Amino acid sequence: MSEDVRGVIVLNFGGQYCQLIARRVREVKVFCEVLPCSASVEEIKRKNPLALILSGSPASVTAEGAPTADPALFTLGIPVLGICYGMQWMAHTLGGKLEPGVLREYGKTEVQKTRRSSLLSTIDYSATCWMSHTDRVAAVPAGFRVTASSANCPVAAMEDESRGLYAVQFHPEVTHTDAAARILPRFLFDIAHIAPDWTMEDFIERKVNEIRETVGDERVLLGLSGGVDSSVAAALISKALGKKLICVYIDHGLMRKDETLQVKTAFGGHFDMELIAVDASEMFFGKLAGVTEPEQKRKIVGAAFVEAFAEQAKLAGEVAFLAQGTIYPDVIESGGAAGASVIKSHHNVGGLPENIGFKGIIEPLRMLFKDEVRKVGEKLGLPEELVWRQPFPGPGLTVRILGEVTRPKAEIVRESDAILQEEIRRAGLTRQIQQYFTVLPGVSSVGVKGDERSYEYIVAIRAVETSDFMTADFFRIPYDVLARISERIVNEVAGVNRVVYDVTTKPPASIEWE
Ligand code: XMP
Repeated sequence: MSEDVRGVIVLNFGGQYCQLIARRVREVKVFCEVLPCSASVEEIKRKNPLALILSGSPASVTAEGAPTADPALFTLGIPVLGICYGMQWMAHTLGGKLEPGVLREYGKTEVQKTRRSSLLSTIDYSATCWMSHTDRVAAVPAGFRVTASSANCPVAAMEDESRGLYAVQFHPEVTHTDAAARILPRFLFDIAHIAPDWTMEDFIERKVNEIRETVGDERVLLGLSGGVDSSVAAALISKALGKKLICVYIDHGLMRKDETLQVKTAFGGHFDMELIAVDASEMFFGKLAGVTEPEQKRKIVGAAFVEAFAEQAKLAGEVAFLAQGTIYPDVIESGGAAGASVIKSHHNVGGLPENIGFKGIIEPLRMLFKDEVRKVGEKLGLPEELVWRQPFPGPGLTVRILGEVTRPKAEIVRESDAILQEEIRRAGLTRQIQQYFTVLPGVSSVGVKGDERSYEYIVAIRAVETSDFMTADFFRIPYDVLARISERIVNEVAGVNRVVYDVTTKPPASIEWE
């Protein structure tokens, strides 16, 4: 496998839970990689997996153009677990029969074990399982036996122990399934006999060796944004290469309070590397002057970033490799092509120009999920505030200042945001609210300060609860905490006389305001 360790391959048929399956496998310390279902059996063989898992899919196996995989995978001699669509595809491919379900079975469903089952031996006779399907298996292929059923689904699980083929119609990877925590481990440890030995310590050691081998005596350039991914990548490469790593940090003047200082302290002090921190704020504010259209603002910051980075890259002299903090969800989302090395547009706002001309790209985190990246960061000794940093958009405060961006406005957002961060920390809510920040809508309202009429800016507070940042609910910050935040902002931040709280969900609103 790409990590040079043997583990599990999840073949992705397009199901929403595919990433979750991979995470569940890794949570029990088994390495796991996701490949598109179109991967050839030769490609799968090259990775030398110990087991295969076939994911779900919203498609119908018998529909035209339905996702399919190479049937030769059943002859690899390793255990295969089909989940939902994966089970239907297995049944169909091996000669069983499918039928369109009359009713869509969705949500928690009672499933009964029908016979002795190897896969389900750790679950009770009857269990609540998470279902999400319309089609169902009507007849199992020769050699299989039905091992569970539900009211709506006569074949809720099947297996052919002699060939090592197992399948479930329900989703053992979601926590709504009773004994969810036992089914995958049963498959991995007892059936596939995989040892749970994939640890972050091993990962770090292996990566350090691999980076040293790849880079040799050359030098590596990394764009450090202060975000979790690039910070952890920097720490890891620094461990491997020391001063042969050159990190470029561009301060566009739209960072949060003390962020630049944090980066300089963390990397300039404790890690062995060459750190180039550039204050490019004049250039950024200059280019943003007079611009109000949100997309245009983002594009300007993206282009200015590329310009500033390219300039530093030139000054850095002979550099053979570019390093990036690409992580596994980026890879899966872009189709998972191995070695695709599409330059992850730094800050997601614009790519680096191709003519910077590197011999190769180094992406040491491209096989890790975010929580694993954080663990690696902690193990490498990065400070907690960097490892547990909230997502921060590449264009920075640009998207939190509606309308024209100016230095004084950036100052208001920065100061009010720092107060919000401090009060949320003081209230002990940091791990409950996934993202919280202040926004300057750019409008003023009338107020009274002292005995005088004031006409000053409104600051808005945004705080959301979310598991995936695709949908979100506004967090119910207790009123007394809100009161303290508001009081401090109007008293301590010059130019603000009113604070409002954004109580919108996503959708229809987005998390950021621009
Ligand atoms: P929205 O505003 O689309 O944000 O609901 C979803 C998540 O994405 C973050 N975000 C960005 N992250 N570059 C990034 O790396 C960007 O340009 C960007 N814009 C939004 C946002 O903070 C939230 O976590």
